[in-house]
Amino acid sequence: MYYSQDIIDEVCRRNDIVDVVSSHVKLTRRGSNYFGLCPFHSEKSPSFSVSPSKQMYHCFGCGAGGSVITFTMNIENYSFPEAVEALADRAGIELPKQSASSEEKEKDSLRSRLLAVNKEAGKYYYYLLRHERGRNAYGYLTGRGLTDPVINAFGLGYAGFGKENLYGYLKKQGYEDELLGQSGLFNHDEKRGMLDKFWNRVIFPIMDIQNRIIGFGGRVMGEGTPKYLNSPETTVFEKGRNLYGLNLARTARKKSLIICEGYMDVISMHQAGFKETVASLGTALTVAQANLMKRYADEVFVCYDSDAAGIKAALRAIPILRNAGFKCRVINMNPYKDPDEFIKNLGSSEFEKRMEEAENSFYYEVRIDEASFDLKDPDDKTRFFKNIAARLLRFEDAIERDNYLEGIADKYHISPESLGEMVKKQAMKAENINVYERPKSLDHKTEREDGRIKAQKGMLTWLCEEPGIYTKIKEYIKTEDFSEGLLKDLATRIYEQLENGSINPAAIISSYEEEEMQRQVASVFNEEVIDTDIGEDRDKALKELILRLLKDSWLSPGREEDNGDVMLIQERINKKKEYERIKSELKNIRLLN
Ligand code: GTP
Ligand code: MN
Repeated sequence: MYYSQDIIDEVCRRNDIVDVVSSHVKLTRRGSNYFGLCPFHSEKSPSFSVSPSKQMYHCFGCGAGGSVITFTMNIENYSFPEAVEALADRAGIELPKQSASSEEKEKDSLRSRLLAVNKEAGKYYYYLLRHERGRNAYGYLTGRGLTDPVINAFGLGYAGFGKENLYGYLKKQGYEDELLGQSGLFNHDEKRGMLDKFWNRVIFPIMDIQNRIIGFGGRVMGEGTPKYLNSPETTVFEKGRNLYGLNLARTARKKSLIICEGYMDVISMHQAGFKETVASLGTALTVAQANLMKRYADEVFVCYDSDAAGIKAALRAIPILRNAGFKCRVINMNPYKDPDEFIKNLGSSEFEKRMEEAENSFYYEVRIDEASFDLKDPDDKTRFFKNIAARLLRFEDAIERDNYLEGIADKYHISPESLGEMVKKQAMKAENINVYERPKSLDHKTEREDGRIKAQKGMLTWLCEEPGIYTKIKEYIKTEDFSEGLLKDLATRIYEQLENGSINPAAIISSYEEEEMQRQVASVFNEEVIDTDIGEDRDKALKELILRLLKDSWLSPGREEDNGDVMLIQERINKKKEYERIKSELKNIRLLN
């Protein structure tokens, strides 16, 4: 669902951030803001601030921040539209149905109709499992150690004997063949027409994070092929964009997720208390799935099968998870094949231990690599270390890379210096000379850049906190003086709001859907410039800030290379003059009282 900015603004207006936060965090008033213990990291003294005037929150400890929508997304693990919906509900606002293009509407209604079919099918299978006709199937599941609560929580079911059960049921409900044909639940037979795809199998409904059934898996009870049948991709079932069990795992609110391969693994793990477990269902993990997981955790335990296929799948998943920003570890389940078997044989406390001992994914990759070399052979050994060097190069962060380099050197008893040399050589070979040794000058540049950005953020924060200064500064600082990208964007929008008479930072934050963007924007509006209550010196501080911004924008070296271009040189001279003029002008006036 896509909501217009007007609606989002309305939702924000009607949900006071102090009220909303108060139901999760105990807040105390201090000056014009409220403070409390941050719910997003553990702390003993309050650094979590909520501003009623800005309708924003910001944690000076962990950097979390945003609008009432961001807060709801984070605290409830909701997506942007989910948070909007929950807040609308809280305030009693009726959300309009999406006004989209007719093609989109068509698709939307096809989606909702298919979801309705799935829901009915799910109900039907659910009912059969608990009926006399499902006695064997129920026995199969309990025989595998599943208990009623977990069978119910996962909505497990049974597709009865015969190939026209579900079809008959749905037809009676009035569904058309045309729609049923698109549900993936039926095969079309020349002679007999539509036939149930799943029959005499236990059924695993696959749900999205909003608990809507988007597809099904069905397992034969006992031996037989194929062991599992899965719904094909449909309009509502994009396999690479969902994870089995995530609807339940996300509400576990753990810092980490466990990813394994199969339905049964997820279910046994949940039953054993590891409710943070999800499965990629026998297909290779995708970037979209990794990003989806990233909304709920920062660390992933990979717990794929211990056979060759599982190892291969783990090796493919690890870089995807790391690139998505996860800390990633691999659980060793020896001597068992998968978590389901492990739990059944050794129980959850042993599994807990394996989690504690889980190997860092980089060491895991290296260790698997090692098996294909004969380390007693000097040539092979060299090639093995070259391989490691190439792997080390993939770390973008120099400190992280150095840490791993030292770890590996220690582990394989070689000197970190010679391994470092190897990495450098590899880097040059990859024509990527700068990767390893960052030139010092670059760091200076970043430092300068940081200061510049801080000043700009400071100005925007000040404008939000004290909109009255706008009329004083606008003749000096234009939106062009802000850095390209986010800062200029935000400046433009704030200036626009101020021109129209009132400022609403929360609305700006809420216009970004991504949580990370919301956090960044909130941090822009919470730069600690100066203490705006310091009286006498505020005037001086504001003038200094103006001059700093102008200097960065007009005069800092390297902005434009003039290359001897007469026009550019002239312009630079003009700017310099103008800067000096403003500087002396500011000396003689007061901006603030
Ligand atoms: P159990 O034997 O019931 O414990 O299965 P499992 O969950 O241990 O599954 P396994 O490790 O054999 O496979 C992992 C996942 O791959 C399953 O959960 C299915 O999603 C998928 N899968 C397994 N077998 C098949 C198959 O024959 N066809 C298809 N399409 N998928 C399968
Ligand atoms: Mn299994």
